[in-house]
Amino acid sequence: MSEISDFRSDTVTRPTESMRRAMAEAVVGDDVLGDDPTVEELEALAADIMGKEAALFVPSGTMGNSIAAKVWTRELEEVIVEARSHIYNMESTHLTFISRVTPRPLASRRGAMDPDEVEANLKKPSVHIPRTSLICVENSHNNWSGAVVPLENLRNLRAVAERHQLRIHLDGARIFNAGAASGVPVKDYAALADSVMFCLSKGLSAPVGSMLAGPGDFIDQARRVRKALGGGMRQAGVLAAPGIIALTEMIGRLVEDHARAKKLATAISRLPGVKLDPNEIETNIIIFGFSYPRLSVPEFLAELRKRRVLALATTGGVRFVTHKDIDDEDVERAMAAFKEILG
Ligand SMILES: Cc1ncc(COP(=O)(O)O)c(C=O)c1O
Repeated sequence: MSEISDFRSDTVTRPTESMRRAMAEAVVGDDVLGDDPTVEELEALAADIMGKEAALFVPSGTMGNSIAAKVWTRELEEVIVEARSHIYNMESTHLTFISRVTPRPLASRRGAMDPDEVEANLKKPSVHIPRTSLICVENSHNNWSGAVVPLENLRNLRAVAERHQLRIHLDGARIFNAGAASGVPVKDYAALADSVMFCLSKGLSAPVGSMLAGPGDFIDQARRVRKALGGGMRQAGVLAAPGIIALTEMIGRLVEDHARAKKLATAISRLPGVKLDPNEIETNIIIFGFSYPRLSVPEFLAELRKRRVLALATTGGVRFVTHKDIDDEDVERAMAAFKEILG
């Protein structure tokens, strides 16, 4: 157990010893000039894992999503987004700022948008009305408590996209969590999207970086957009090396995070005033609300902090995320803290 049990996010994970060693020993070049062998290795590995032609190493998930939207759209177009999605709510409006397109948020059932509703919202362009050019999906879905969007739903959205010549971008920041929970190979999710972004620096514990994968010509253009956004990195092999370890050594252990999240969610759901169905916790994110006299969310978080447990406030109440640096004793500490504060 660590000094502090930090459930704020899986982004707080520290690099493993083997990642630190790999960083020290990485063979590097100048990736902007196209000759960093470690970055090339990571990009080839990422493309292969996703079953795409090519992949690009980017500094963050936000940049990966921004680049994808920029490459797939043109100004004056519209993009369908899920109402609670990270792209729409948490990425400082790059859709309007960088791509200069209008997001059209649609409600969903735990992250799965209704394909008929998506189709009904596609625009027939006119002088008044923008063309819809892109649908963005997210899997697993952060703000739906890490829900896994079913493959069948994505298949139906794909059919809509094909009928109307639209692109689909998958924000797969936690696609390996989705795959680990559902048993669906991540390639199968990726095959239903034109491009997929996934993060190395969340549950997979690399210190920095995300990957954007897609067709070769898409990635060529993405590389140019990355440069324009200031995301070209020189001796980036130092960062790519732990990324390779993230993809080769860290995926298998995500199920442990899911089991701990389930255990914690089950305990939380038994406390008075808590609104949480533990059956809905499929991966590593628990979001719950509570109605408890005399205790606001900030006060609750402050009480937890006094007991060396950190969590974050979110729209639905409080968010707990399990990850590599949370062990069983951290879960016990959190459960004890809950009982003291709410029980
Ligand atoms: C679903 C989702 N997409 C994208 C991102 C953005 O990743 P980054 O923080 O690396 O920009 C996050 C970050 O938490 C996320 O949860």
